Amino acid sequence: MNKLEKIVSLAKRRGFIFPGSEIYGGISGIYDYGPLGVELINNIKQEWRRGMFNRPENIFEIDSSILMPRQVWEASGHTSAGFTDPLQECKKCHRRFRADHLSGQEKDKCPDCGGELTKPKKFNLLVETHLGPVKDESSLAYLRGETTQGIYVNYKNIKTSMSADIPFGVGQIGKAFRNEITPGHFIYRMREFEQMEQQYFVKPEEADKYFDFWKNERMNWYLGLGVKKEKLRFRPHTKDELAHYAKGAGDIEYEFPFGWHEIEGIHNRGDWDLSRHSQFSGEDLSEIDEKTGKRFFPFVVETSAGADRAALVFLAEAYDDSDKKRLVLKLHPKLSPYKAAIFPLLANKPDLIEKAKQVFRSLKVSGFNVAWDDRGNIGKRYYSQDEVGTPWTITCDFQTLEDDTVTARDRDTTKQERIKADELKIYFEKFLK
Ligand code: GAP
Repeated sequence: MNKLEKIVSLAKRRGFIFPGSEIYGGISGIYDYGPLGVELINNIKQEWRRGMFNRPENIFEIDSSILMPRQVWEASGHTSAGFTDPLQECKKCHRRFRADHLSGQEKDKCPDCGGELTKPKKFNLLVETHLGPVKDESSLAYLRGETTQGIYVNYKNIKTSMSADIPFGVGQIGKAFRNEITPGHFIYRMREFEQMEQQYFVKPEEADKYFDFWKNERMNWYLGLGVKKEKLRFRPHTKDELAHYAKGAGDIEYEFPFGWHEIEGIHNRGDWDLSRHSQFSGEDLSEIDEKTGKRFFPFVVETSAGADRAALVFLAEAYDDSDKKRLVLKLHPKLSPYKAAIFPLLANKPDLIEKAKQVFRSLKVSGFNVAWDDRGNIGKRYYSQDEVGTPWTITCDFQTLEDDTVTARDRDTTKQERIKADELKIYFEKFLK
């Protein structure tokens, strides 16, 4: 098994991520998060929010709808050539491929059956639906292809209701949908996924400065959550790679087990979005420069991360089976689904169980997601928690009954120390702050 297959297998076995609707054979590019996966992705989103909103800059969070009028996607350019991938189809087996994912000699031949491929044609990625009782051209709508547009259509409402002055930002987390030709690499490329996006509205002359600022902030976010420096890089887009809206852009890339790939886009979108939405909606979204008295459209510096891609980054970074005896998920404690697991040393001693339950309950009601385990022997319990990334395992033993101390075992070093049970919260918080 290669590393990605091992991660997929662990993710399913331990309740992180399941293939969508698996009992019906699954559905390509769709995955479901299980109990531990929800904890992981919620922690990622919480850290993104902390990094985005707990800061001196003026940034607001919103939650806009998935469905918007069709004109939104016409204004944004998503219904035209800008939001397409080049599609080639095999004339023999009819499998479809993304032309830009086929390598040199494969370009005209089907990689599966050797059949001839059609010339590339533009394939739009928006997922279509119909609203209302009549299914015709007039009821056509799209599931949003990015969360970004929900921010632009609310620009004026946010600015007015929050009395916001430029520069200010608006961020949101939410689902996006793309009819990817070739979903793959587990949760790397999906058809339904979640984005964590922020649009920073600035004066045109300040866009380059804020582009560098946000690029650094976002690189540091991944590093701060345990991604190694050598596995992360920023790759500026070449001119022919630039999205239809971008004046300048680049990708934060991570070295996955399947190579270097984009995990987040940093874009200087210029005045594309607000000027286009003004033009299409008839609502003037321009501002007045107080010094010159001239009207201008704010430029947008965007940070656009995928929550699922981030989850795959953290899983790949944490997965460590170099020790033959145990598999460890060395997640940053802030991201770990469980912050600790509580064990009674022996499962047949009622006073030990009662003491351990007290510790468990006290941590739970204080807001720590902790696990309980009294099965099998203690070694197996340790390994079971190591696999899901629980940073500390707490054992209540006979000494606990005498002096109220417990042993805390560190997941990564396996070292143990004795701590007062009522100091556990402070002990954990030191690492979680
Ligand atoms: N608003 C700009 C935008 O959507 P993008 O580069 O198309 O830019 C931004 O997407 C991020 O969204 C990507 O870096 C990635 O993390 C995530 N993303 C995009 N398509 C995805 C897919 N099919 N599956 C999972 N994540 C995806």
